[in-house]
Amino acid sequence: MTAFPARVLLVEDNEALRRGIAMALGDAGHEVEALSRGDRAVARLSEGEGLAPDVVITDLRLPGADGLAVLRAARQCESRTAVIVMTAFGSVETAVEAMRQGAFDFVEKPVGLDQLEVRVTRAVEHTRLLREVRDLRAERSARLGADRIVGESPALAAAVDLAERAAPSRSTVLVTGETGTGKELIAGLIHAGSPRADGPFVKVNCAALPETLLESELFGHERGAFTGAERTRVGRFEQADGGTLFLDEVGDMSPATQAKVLRVLQEQEFHRLGGTTTLHTDVRIVAATNHDLQAAISQGLFREDLYFRLAVIGIHLPPLRERGDDVLLLAEHLREGFARELGRPSAGFSRAAERCLRAHPWPGNVRELRNVVERASLMAEGERIGPEDLVLTPVPVPTEAGREIGLTSFSLADVEREVVLAALRRSGFVQKAAADLLGVSRRKLNYMIGKMGITHPSWRRNRGDDEDEAPDGAESMGPDAEASLDFGSDAS
Ligand SMILES: Nc1ncnc2c1ncn2[C@@H]1O[C@H](COP(=O)(O)OP(=O)(O)OP(=O)(O)O)[C@@H](O)[C@H]1O
Ligand SMILES: [Mg+2]
Repeated sequence: MTAFPARVLLVEDNEALRRGIAMALGDAGHEVEALSRGDRAVARLSEGEGLAPDVVITDLRLPGADGLAVLRAARQCESRTAVIVMTAFGSVETAVEAMRQGAFDFVEKPVGLDQLEVRVTRAVEHTRLLREVRDLRAERSARLGADRIVGESPALAAAVDLAERAAPSRSTVLVTGETGTGKELIAGLIHAGSPRADGPFVKVNCAALPETLLESELFGHERGAFTGAERTRVGRFEQADGGTLFLDEVGDMSPATQAKVLRVLQEQEFHRLGGTTTLHTDVRIVAATNHDLQAAISQGLFREDLYFRLAVIGIHLPPLRERGDDVLLLAEHLREGFARELGRPSAGFSRAAERCLRAHPWPGNVRELRNVVERASLMAEGERIGPEDLVLTPVPVPTEAGREIGLTSFSLADVEREVVLAALRRSGFVQKAAADLLGVSRRKLNYMIGKMGITHPSWRRNRGDDEDEAPDGAESMGPDAEASLDFGSDAS
Protein backbone atom coordinates (compact mmCIF):
# COMPACT_ATOMS: atom_id res chain seq x y z
CA MET A 1 0.00 0.00 0.00
CA THR A 2 1.23 3.46 -0.83
CA ALA A 3 1.83 6.14 1.74
CA PHE A 4 0.14 8.63 -0.55
CA PRO A 5 -3.24 7.29 -1.63
CA ALA A 6 -4.37 9.54 -4.45
CA ARG A 7 -7.30 10.25 -6.68
CA VAL A 8 -6.10 9.31 -10.14
CA LEU A 9 -7.81 10.13 -13.40
CA LEU A 10 -6.66 7.69 -16.09
CA VAL A 11 -7.36 8.45 -19.74
CA GLU A 12 -6.51 5.64 -22.14
CA ASP A 13 -8.47 4.35 -25.11
CA ASN A 14 -6.87 0.91 -25.22
CA GLU A 15 -9.18 -1.13 -23.04
CA ALA A 16 -6.71 -3.81 -21.97
CA LEU A 17 -4.11 -1.24 -20.96
CA ARG A 18 -6.71 0.89 -19.19
CA ARG A 19 -7.90 -2.05 -17.12
CA GLY A 20 -4.39 -3.22 -16.36
CA ILE A 21 -3.21 0.16 -15.10
CA ALA A 22 -6.43 0.84 -13.19
CA MET A 23 -6.13 -2.49 -11.42
CA ALA A 24 -2.46 -2.07 -10.53
CA LEU A 25 -2.96 1.45 -9.14
CA GLY A 26 -6.13 0.35 -7.34
CA ASP A 27 -4.20 -2.47 -5.69
CA ALA A 28 -1.60 0.07 -4.60
CA GLY A 29 -4.31 1.92 -2.70
CA HIS A 30 -5.21 4.67 -5.16
CA GLU A 31 -8.71 5.63 -6.13
CA VAL A 32 -8.82 5.36 -9.89
CA GLU A 33 -11.34 6.81 -12.31
CA ALA A 34 -10.79 5.52 -15.86
CA LEU A 35 -12.00 7.19 -19.05
CA SER A 36 -11.51 6.23 -22.66
CA ARG A 37 -12.13 9.55 -24.42
CA GLY A 38 -10.17 12.82 -24.35
CA ASP A 39 -13.23 15.07 -24.55
CA ARG A 40 -14.80 13.30 -21.56
CA ALA A 41 -11.62 13.88 -19.58
CA VAL A 42 -11.56 17.58 -20.51
CA ALA A 43 -15.19 17.92 -19.39
CA ARG A 44 -14.45 16.02 -16.19
CA LEU A 45 -11.53 18.31 -15.37
CA SER A 46 -13.62 21.43 -15.70
CA GLU A 47 -16.15 20.18 -13.16
CA GLY A 48 -14.74 22.12 -10.28
CA GLU A 49 -12.15 21.99 -7.67
CA GLY A 50 -13.61 19.83 -4.99
CA LEU A 51 -13.72 16.96 -7.45
CA ALA A 52 -10.31 17.50 -9.00
CA PRO A 53 -8.03 14.47 -9.19
CA ASP A 54 -4.56 14.62 -7.66
CA VAL A 55 -2.93 13.10 -10.72
CA VAL A 56 -3.95 12.68 -14.33
CA ILE A 57 -2.35 9.93 -16.41
CA THR A 58 -3.17 10.40 -20.04
CA ASP A 59 -2.41 8.80 -23.36
CA LEU A 60 -1.57 11.24 -26.14
CA ARG A 61 -3.63 9.93 -29.03
CA LEU A 62 -7.23 9.71 -27.92
CA PRO A 63 -10.66 9.98 -29.48
CA GLY A 64 -12.53 13.26 -28.90
CA ALA A 65 -9.57 15.39 -27.81
CA ASP A 66 -5.89 14.52 -27.61
CA GLY A 67 -3.69 14.18 -24.56
CA LEU A 68 -2.34 17.72 -24.89
CA ALA A 69 -5.91 19.05 -24.63
CA VAL A 70 -6.36 16.99 -21.47
CA LEU A 71 -3.08 18.42 -20.20
CA ARG A 72 -4.23 21.97 -20.88
CA ALA A 73 -7.57 21.38 -19.16
CA ALA A 74 -5.76 20.06 -16.09
CA ARG A 75 -3.39 23.03 -16.10
CA GLN A 76 -6.23 25.49 -16.41
CA CYS A 77 -8.14 24.49 -13.35
CA GLU A 78 -6.97 25.86 -10.03
CA SER A 79 -6.36 22.41 -8.60
CA ARG A 80 -2.64 22.13 -9.46
CA THR A 81 -3.21 18.58 -10.68
CA ALA A 82 0.01 16.94 -11.90
CA VAL A 83 -0.18 15.30 -15.31
CA ILE A 84 1.78 12.24 -16.42
CA VAL A 85 1.75 11.70 -20.16
CA MET A 86 2.13 8.26 -21.76
CA THR A 87 3.93 8.36 -25.06
CA ALA A 88 4.61 5.79 -27.76
CA PHE A 89 8.07 4.28 -27.55
CA GLY A 90 10.67 6.50 -29.23
CA SER A 91 8.49 9.60 -29.62
CA VAL A 92 10.71 11.91 -27.60
CA GLU A 93 9.51 14.97 -29.51
CA THR A 94 5.95 14.68 -28.25
CA ALA A 95 7.17 13.99 -24.73
CA VAL A 96 9.25 17.16 -24.84
CA GLU A 97 6.30 19.13 -26.15
CA ALA A 98 4.11 17.80 -23.33
CA MET A 99 6.70 18.74 -20.73
CA ARG A 100 6.99 22.16 -22.29
CA GLN A 101 3.26 22.62 -21.88
CA GLY A 102 3.52 21.81 -18.23
CA ALA A 103 3.29 18.00 -17.89
CA PHE A 104 4.89 16.82 -14.66
CA ASP A 105 6.37 13.64 -16.08
CA PHE A 106 6.11 11.18 -18.95
CA VAL A 107 6.33 7.42 -19.31
CA GLU A 108 7.09 5.49 -22.44
CA LYS A 109 4.96 2.63 -23.61
CA PRO A 110 4.97 -0.24 -22.95
CA VAL A 111 4.29 0.98 -19.46
CA GLY A 112 6.04 -0.80 -16.60
CA LEU A 113 3.48 -0.88 -13.81
CA ASP A 114 6.00 -0.67 -10.98
CA GLN A 115 7.66 2.29 -12.58
CA LEU A 116 4.30 3.98 -13.12
CA GLU A 117 3.45 3.55 -9.46
CA VAL A 118 6.66 5.26 -8.37
CA ARG A 119 5.93 8.16 -10.66
CA VAL A 120 2.38 8.50 -9.46
CA THR A 121 3.64 8.72 -5.89
CA ARG A 122 6.09 11.45 -6.85
CA ALA A 123 3.38 13.32 -8.74
CA VAL A 124 1.00 13.21 -5.79
CA GLU A 125 3.61 14.61 -3.45
CA HIS A 126 4.24 17.39 -5.95
CA THR A 127 0.54 18.22 -6.29
CA ARG A 128 0.08 18.30 -2.53
CA LEU A 129 3.03 20.64 -2.05
CA LEU A 130 1.74 23.01 -4.72
CA ARG A 131 -1.71 23.01 -3.15
CA GLU A 132 -0.24 23.71 0.22
CA VAL A 133 1.72 26.67 -1.13
CA ARG A 134 -1.34 27.94 -2.93
CA ASP A 135 -3.50 27.70 0.18
CA LEU A 136 -0.89 29.33 2.39
CA ARG A 137 -0.52 32.18 -0.05
CA ALA A 138 -4.24 32.71 -0.31
CA GLU A 139 -4.53 32.60 3.45
CA ARG A 140 -1.72 35.08 3.91
CA SER A 141 -3.05 37.43 1.30
CA ALA A 142 -6.54 37.23 2.83
CA ARG A 143 -5.05 37.96 6.24
CA LEU A 144 -3.09 40.93 4.98
CA GLY A 145 -5.87 42.04 2.66
CA ALA A 146 -3.04 42.24 0.15
CA ASP A 147 -5.16 42.47 -2.93
CA ARG A 148 -7.43 45.20 -1.74
CA ILE A 149 -6.92 48.73 -2.94
CA VAL A 150 -7.36 51.03 0.01
CA GLY A 151 -8.08 54.73 -0.27
CA GLU A 152 -10.90 57.14 -0.83
CA SER A 153 -9.17 60.17 -2.28
CA PRO A 154 -10.61 61.38 -5.58
CA ALA A 155 -7.20 61.07 -7.26
CA LEU A 156 -6.95 57.37 -6.42
CA ALA A 157 -10.62 56.69 -7.13
CA ALA A 158 -10.21 58.12 -10.63
CA ALA A 159 -7.28 55.79 -11.32
CA VAL A 160 -9.08 52.72 -9.99
CA ASP A 161 -12.19 53.60 -11.96
CA LEU A 162 -10.17 53.88 -15.14
CA ALA A 163 -8.50 50.54 -14.45
CA GLU A 164 -11.86 48.86 -13.90
CA ARG A 165 -13.23 50.26 -17.12
CA ALA A 166 -10.10 49.31 -19.07
CA ALA A 167 -9.93 45.78 -17.66
CA PRO A 168 -12.48 43.97 -19.87
CA SER A 169 -10.92 45.20 -23.12
CA ARG A 170 -7.78 44.03 -24.80
CA SER A 171 -6.28 47.50 -24.93
CA THR A 172 -2.74 48.03 -23.84
CA VAL A 173 -2.46 50.00 -20.60
CA LEU A 174 0.42 52.12 -19.37
CA VAL A 175 0.47 52.64 -15.61
CA THR A 176 2.64 55.49 -14.39
CA GLY A 177 3.48 56.77 -10.94
CA GLU A 178 6.31 57.11 -8.47
CA THR A 179 7.89 54.09 -6.86
CA GLY A 180 5.61 52.24 -4.45
CA THR A 181 2.36 53.89 -5.57
CA GLY A 182 0.70 50.58 -6.44
CA LYS A 183 1.40 50.16 -10.16
CA GLU A 184 1.78 46.41 -9.88
CA LEU A 185 -1.34 46.18 -7.77
CA ILE A 186 -3.31 48.03 -10.47
CA ALA A 187 -1.86 45.77 -13.18
CA GLY A 188 -3.07 42.75 -11.21
CA LEU A 189 -6.50 44.33 -10.85
CA ILE A 190 -6.70 44.85 -14.61
CA HIS A 191 -5.81 41.22 -15.25
CA ALA A 192 -8.25 39.95 -12.65
CA GLY A 193 -11.06 42.01 -14.14
CA SER A 194 -10.43 40.84 -17.68
CA PRO A 195 -11.79 37.82 -19.58
CA ARG A 196 -8.20 36.54 -19.34
CA ALA A 197 -8.36 36.26 -15.57
CA ASP A 198 -8.02 32.47 -15.73
CA GLY A 199 -5.03 32.75 -18.05
CA PRO A 200 -1.50 33.46 -16.86
CA PHE A 201 -0.39 36.80 -15.40
CA VAL A 202 3.27 36.98 -16.28
CA LYS A 203 5.58 39.69 -15.01
CA VAL A 204 8.88 40.84 -16.46
CA ASN A 205 11.03 43.47 -14.83
CA CYS A 206 12.72 45.19 -17.76
CA ALA A 207 15.17 47.05 -15.52
CA ALA A 208 16.53 43.96 -13.79
CA LEU A 209 18.32 42.37 -16.74
CA PRO A 210 20.99 43.40 -19.25
CA GLU A 211 19.89 43.65 -22.87
CA THR A 212 20.57 40.12 -24.21
CA LEU A 213 19.20 38.44 -21.13
CA LEU A 214 16.09 40.59 -21.25
CA GLU A 215 15.49 39.62 -24.87
CA SER A 216 15.89 35.96 -24.12
CA GLU A 217 13.60 36.41 -21.13
CA LEU A 218 10.94 38.05 -23.30
CA PHE A 219 11.21 36.04 -26.48
CA GLY A 220 12.96 32.85 -25.39
CA HIS A 221 15.89 31.33 -27.24
CA GLU A 222 16.83 28.26 -29.21
CA ARG A 223 19.54 25.98 -28.01
CA GLY A 224 22.94 27.44 -28.94
CA ALA A 225 21.56 30.91 -29.73
CA PHE A 226 24.41 32.34 -27.67
CA THR A 227 27.12 31.02 -25.39
CA GLY A 228 25.46 29.60 -22.36
CA ALA A 229 22.18 28.84 -24.13
CA GLU A 230 22.37 25.13 -23.50
CA ARG A 231 18.69 24.47 -23.72
CA THR A 232 15.78 25.89 -25.61
CA ARG A 233 13.94 28.35 -23.48
CA VAL A 234 10.37 29.53 -23.68
CA GLY A 235 10.06 33.29 -23.33
CA ARG A 236 7.57 35.32 -21.34
CA PHE A 237 5.57 36.31 -24.42
CA GLU A 238 4.96 32.60 -25.06
CA GLN A 239 4.20 31.88 -21.42
CA ALA A 240 1.68 34.68 -21.25
CA ASP A 241 -0.27 33.33 -24.21
CA GLY A 242 -3.97 33.73 -23.44
CA GLY A 243 -3.20 35.96 -20.45
CA THR A 244 -1.61 39.25 -19.50
CA LEU A 245 2.04 40.22 -19.76
CA PHE A 246 3.09 42.85 -17.25
CA LEU A 247 6.11 44.77 -18.51
CA ASP A 248 7.43 46.46 -15.40
CA GLU A 249 9.92 49.36 -15.57
CA VAL A 250 9.29 49.52 -19.31
CA GLY A 251 11.19 52.81 -19.53
CA ASP A 252 14.44 50.93 -18.95
CA MET A 253 14.45 48.88 -22.16
CA SER A 254 17.28 49.41 -24.64
CA PRO A 255 16.39 50.82 -28.06
CA ALA A 256 16.94 47.42 -29.72
CA THR A 257 14.60 45.67 -27.32
CA GLN A 258 12.06 48.46 -27.73
CA ALA A 259 12.04 47.84 -31.48
CA LYS A 260 11.40 44.11 -30.99
CA VAL A 261 8.66 44.64 -28.46
CA LEU A 262 7.02 47.14 -30.79
CA ARG A 263 6.99 44.48 -33.48
CA VAL A 264 5.25 41.95 -31.26
CA LEU A 265 2.66 44.54 -30.30
CA GLN A 266 1.99 45.33 -33.93
CA GLU A 267 1.90 41.82 -35.32
CA GLN A 268 1.41 39.55 -32.31
CA GLU A 269 4.25 37.40 -33.58
CA PHE A 270 7.95 36.98 -32.89
CA HIS A 271 10.98 34.67 -33.06
CA ARG A 272 12.92 33.09 -30.28
CA LEU A 273 16.55 34.32 -30.22
CA GLY A 274 18.48 32.25 -32.72
CA GLY A 275 15.25 30.81 -34.11
CA THR A 276 13.61 31.14 -37.51
CA THR A 277 10.12 29.86 -36.77
CA THR A 278 7.54 32.59 -36.40
CA LEU A 279 5.61 32.16 -33.20
CA HIS A 280 2.20 33.65 -32.55
CA THR A 281 1.00 34.85 -29.25
CA ASP A 282 -2.18 36.27 -27.83
CA VAL A 283 -1.21 38.53 -24.97
CA ARG A 284 -2.62 41.63 -23.40
CA ILE A 285 0.10 44.04 -22.35
CA VAL A 286 0.06 46.14 -19.23
CA ALA A 287 3.22 48.22 -18.85
CA ALA A 288 4.42 50.32 -15.95
CA THR A 289 7.13 52.89 -15.37
CA ASN A 290 8.15 55.46 -12.82
CA HIS A 291 10.09 57.42 -15.43
CA ASP A 292 8.74 60.38 -17.30
CA LEU A 293 8.44 58.73 -20.72
CA GLN A 294 7.61 62.02 -22.46
CA ALA A 295 10.95 63.37 -21.28
CA ALA A 296 12.70 60.14 -22.33
CA ILE A 297 11.16 60.52 -25.78
CA SER A 298 12.42 64.06 -26.19
CA GLN A 299 15.88 62.90 -25.14
CA GLY A 300 15.74 60.16 -27.76
CA LEU A 301 15.82 57.39 -25.16
CA PHE A 302 12.36 56.01 -25.70
CA ARG A 303 10.60 55.35 -28.99
CA GLU A 304 7.61 57.53 -29.52
CA ASP A 305 5.82 54.92 -31.64
CA LEU A 306 6.20 52.35 -28.86
CA TYR A 307 4.92 54.89 -26.36
CA PHE A 308 1.74 55.38 -28.34
CA ARG A 309 1.28 51.61 -28.66
CA LEU A 310 1.64 51.18 -24.91
CA ALA A 311 -0.28 54.18 -23.70
CA VAL A 312 -3.56 53.40 -25.44
CA ILE A 313 -4.99 53.80 -21.98
CA GLY A 314 -2.83 55.73 -19.54
CA ILE A 315 -3.42 55.41 -15.81
CA HIS A 316 -1.53 57.69 -13.47
CA LEU A 317 -1.25 56.82 -9.80
CA PRO A 318 -0.89 59.90 -7.61
CA PRO A 319 1.85 59.91 -4.96
CA LEU A 320 0.68 59.13 -1.45
CA ARG A 321 1.30 62.70 -0.25
CA GLU A 322 -1.38 63.87 -2.69
CA ARG A 323 -3.99 61.46 -1.40
CA GLY A 324 -4.97 63.35 1.75
CA ASP A 325 -6.27 61.11 4.52
CA ASP A 326 -5.69 57.95 2.47
CA VAL A 327 -2.40 57.65 4.29
CA LEU A 328 -4.29 57.17 7.56
CA LEU A 329 -6.74 54.67 6.06
CA LEU A 330 -3.85 52.72 4.57
CA ALA A 331 -1.80 52.84 7.75
CA GLU A 332 -4.75 51.52 9.73
CA HIS A 333 -5.45 48.81 7.14
CA LEU A 334 -1.83 47.70 7.16
CA ARG A 335 -1.64 47.84 10.95
CA GLU A 336 -4.67 45.57 11.28
CA GLY A 337 -3.07 43.11 8.87
CA PHE A 338 0.21 43.00 10.79
CA ALA A 339 -1.57 42.79 14.13
CA ARG A 340 -3.45 39.74 12.87
CA GLU A 341 -0.28 38.23 11.43
CA LEU A 342 1.66 38.79 14.63
CA GLY A 343 -1.29 37.62 16.72
CA ARG A 344 -0.83 40.74 18.78
CA PRO A 345 -3.83 43.01 19.18
CA SER A 346 -3.05 46.71 19.11
CA ALA A 347 -5.13 49.74 19.79
CA GLY A 348 -4.07 51.80 16.80
CA PHE A 349 -2.10 54.97 16.29
CA SER A 350 -1.95 57.82 18.77
CA ARG A 351 -3.09 61.24 17.60
CA ALA A 352 0.50 62.45 17.52
CA ALA A 353 1.50 59.44 15.39
CA GLU A 354 -1.32 60.20 12.98
CA ARG A 355 -0.07 63.75 12.67
CA CYS A 356 3.40 62.45 11.81
CA LEU A 357 1.99 60.05 9.22
CA ARG A 358 0.00 62.83 7.64
CA ALA A 359 2.93 65.27 7.58
CA HIS A 360 5.58 62.92 6.15
CA PRO A 361 6.06 63.37 2.39
CA TRP A 362 6.41 59.58 1.74
CA PRO A 363 8.99 59.52 -1.06
CA GLY A 364 8.65 55.71 -1.12
CA ASN A 365 4.84 55.94 -1.08
CA VAL A 366 2.75 52.95 0.02
CA ARG A 367 5.72 50.58 0.10
CA GLU A 368 7.53 52.90 2.52
CA LEU A 369 4.38 53.25 4.61
CA ARG A 370 4.07 49.48 4.72
CA ASN A 371 7.61 49.10 6.00
CA VAL A 372 7.14 51.81 8.59
CA VAL A 373 3.90 50.25 9.86
CA GLU A 374 5.39 46.76 9.89
CA ARG A 375 8.32 47.92 11.99
CA ALA A 376 6.11 49.93 14.30
CA SER A 377 3.77 46.96 14.78
CA LEU A 378 6.72 44.81 15.79
CA MET A 379 8.51 47.28 17.99
CA ALA A 380 5.77 49.35 19.65
CA GLU A 381 5.71 48.77 23.39
CA GLY A 382 2.84 50.96 24.41
CA GLU A 383 -0.80 50.19 23.80
CA ARG A 384 -0.91 52.61 20.92
CA ILE A 385 1.69 53.24 18.25
CA GLY A 386 3.28 56.60 19.01
CA PRO A 387 5.47 58.95 16.97
CA GLU A 388 8.57 57.40 18.58
CA ASP A 389 7.66 54.04 16.95
CA LEU A 390 7.60 55.53 13.47
CA VAL A 391 11.00 55.44 11.85
CA LEU A 392 10.66 57.75 8.89
CA THR A 393 13.30 58.24 6.22
CA PRO A 394 14.63 61.75 6.15
CA VAL A 395 13.95 63.37 2.82
CA PRO A 396 16.79 65.45 1.41
CA VAL A 397 15.49 68.95 0.92
CA PRO A 398 17.67 71.54 -0.80
CA THR A 399 18.07 74.73 1.20
CA GLU A 400 18.40 78.20 -0.22
CA ALA A 401 22.14 78.07 0.32
CA GLY A 402 22.27 75.03 -1.97
CA ARG A 403 22.95 72.51 0.81
CA GLU A 404 20.58 69.67 1.58
CA ILE A 405 18.97 68.95 4.91
CA GLY A 406 17.18 65.72 5.79
CA LEU A 407 13.57 66.10 6.85
CA THR A 408 11.17 63.38 7.93
CA SER A 409 8.28 65.76 8.00
CA PHE A 410 7.32 69.07 6.54
CA SER A 411 5.20 70.00 9.51
CA LEU A 412 6.62 73.30 10.77
CA ALA A 413 6.16 72.25 14.39
CA ASP A 414 8.11 69.00 13.80
CA VAL A 415 10.88 70.74 11.89
CA GLU A 416 11.19 73.43 14.56
CA ARG A 417 11.46 70.82 17.26
CA GLU A 418 14.12 68.90 15.31
CA VAL A 419 16.16 72.05 14.80
CA VAL A 420 15.93 73.03 18.46
CA LEU A 421 16.99 69.54 19.52
CA ALA A 422 19.85 69.53 17.02
CA ALA A 423 21.10 72.88 18.33
CA LEU A 424 20.86 71.67 21.93
CA ARG A 425 22.74 68.50 21.10
CA ARG A 426 25.40 70.44 19.24
CA SER A 427 25.90 72.71 22.25
CA GLY A 428 25.91 69.98 24.88
CA PHE A 429 22.49 71.06 26.13
CA VAL A 430 23.81 74.41 27.29
CA GLN A 431 20.87 76.64 26.49
CA LYS A 432 22.83 79.83 26.12
CA ALA A 433 25.04 78.29 23.43
CA ALA A 434 22.09 76.70 21.68
CA ALA A 435 20.23 80.01 21.61
CA ASP A 436 23.26 81.63 19.98
CA LEU A 437 23.35 78.89 17.37
CA LEU A 438 19.67 79.36 16.68
CA GLY A 439 19.94 83.14 16.60
CA VAL A 440 17.24 83.62 19.24
CA SER A 441 17.34 84.99 22.78
CA ARG A 442 17.83 82.72 25.79
CA ARG A 443 14.37 83.64 26.92
CA LYS A 444 12.79 82.70 23.63
CA LEU A 445 14.61 79.37 23.53
CA ASN A 446 13.61 78.63 27.10
CA TYR A 447 10.00 79.32 26.18
CA MET A 448 10.17 77.03 23.11
CA ILE A 449 11.77 74.23 25.10
CA GLY A 450 8.97 74.47 27.60
CA LYS A 451 6.31 74.38 24.93
CA MET A 452 7.92 71.45 23.20
CA GLY A 453 8.25 69.53 26.44
CA ILE A 454 12.00 68.96 26.02
CA THR A 455 13.86 68.14 29.22
CA HIS A 456 17.40 67.17 30.09
CA PRO A 457 18.89 65.75 33.31
CA SER A 458 21.48 68.55 33.45
CA TRP A 459 18.73 71.16 33.72
CA ARG A 460 17.92 71.46 37.38
CA ARG A 461 14.52 72.73 38.29
CA ASN A 462 13.83 76.00 40.11
CA ARG A 463 17.41 77.00 40.74
CA GLY A 464 18.09 80.60 41.53
CA ASP A 465 21.04 81.03 39.16
CA ASP A 466 19.81 81.21 35.67
CA GLU A 467 22.33 78.81 34.20
CA ASP A 468 20.01 76.46 32.40
CA GLU A 469 17.23 75.85 34.82
CA ALA A 470 14.34 73.74 33.71
CA PRO A 471 12.16 75.75 31.41
CA ASP A 472 8.72 76.74 32.63
CA GLY A 473 6.20 74.21 31.53
CA ALA A 474 8.69 71.42 30.94
CA GLU A 475 7.64 68.36 32.78
CA SER A 476 9.88 66.78 35.35
CA MET A 477 11.43 63.44 34.66
CA GLY A 478 8.39 61.27 35.32
CA PRO A 479 7.51 58.31 33.15
CA ASP A 480 5.45 60.61 30.95
CA ALA A 481 8.33 62.87 30.17
CA GLU A 482 10.31 59.87 29.00
CA ALA A 483 8.42 59.75 25.73
CA SER A 484 9.57 63.18 24.67
CA LEU A 485 13.16 62.56 25.64
CA ASP A 486 14.76 61.80 22.35
CA PHE A 487 17.93 63.83 22.56
CA GLY A 488 19.95 60.66 22.87
CA SER A 489 18.99 59.42 19.42
CA ASP A 490 20.71 60.42 16.24
CA ALA A 491 17.58 60.22 14.16
CA SER A 492 17.66 63.82 12.99
N1 LIG B 1 -3.99 51.62 -2.53
C1 LIG B 1 -3.37 50.55 -1.97
N2 LIG B 1 -4.02 49.80 -1.08
C2 LIG B 1 -3.41 48.75 -0.49
N3 LIG B 1 -2.15 48.40 -0.72
C3 LIG B 1 -1.45 49.11 -1.60
C4 LIG B 1 -2.01 50.22 -2.29
N4 LIG B 1 -1.09 50.74 -3.11
C5 LIG B 1 0.01 49.99 -2.96
N5 LIG B 1 -0.18 49.00 -2.06
C6 LIG B 1 0.84 48.03 -1.59
O1 LIG B 1 2.07 48.71 -1.56
C7 LIG B 1 3.13 47.92 -2.05
C8 LIG B 1 3.79 48.55 -3.25
O2 LIG B 1 2.90 48.54 -4.36
P1 LIG B 1 3.38 48.13 -5.82
O3 LIG B 1 4.41 47.06 -5.78
O4 LIG B 1 2.16 47.88 -6.64
O5 LIG B 1 4.07 49.50 -6.25
P2 LIG B 1 4.77 49.92 -7.62
O6 LIG B 1 4.15 51.19 -8.05
O7 LIG B 1 4.75 48.78 -8.57
O8 LIG B 1 6.25 50.24 -7.11
P3 LIG B 1 7.66 50.20 -7.93
O9 LIG B 1 7.63 51.31 -8.92
O10 LIG B 1 8.66 50.43 -6.86
O11 LIG B 1 7.74 48.85 -8.55
C9 LIG B 1 2.53 46.57 -2.32
O12 LIG B 1 2.67 45.77 -1.19
C10 LIG B 1 1.06 46.89 -2.56
O13 LIG B 1 0.24 45.78 -2.28
MG1 LIG C 1 6.38 47.68 -9.29
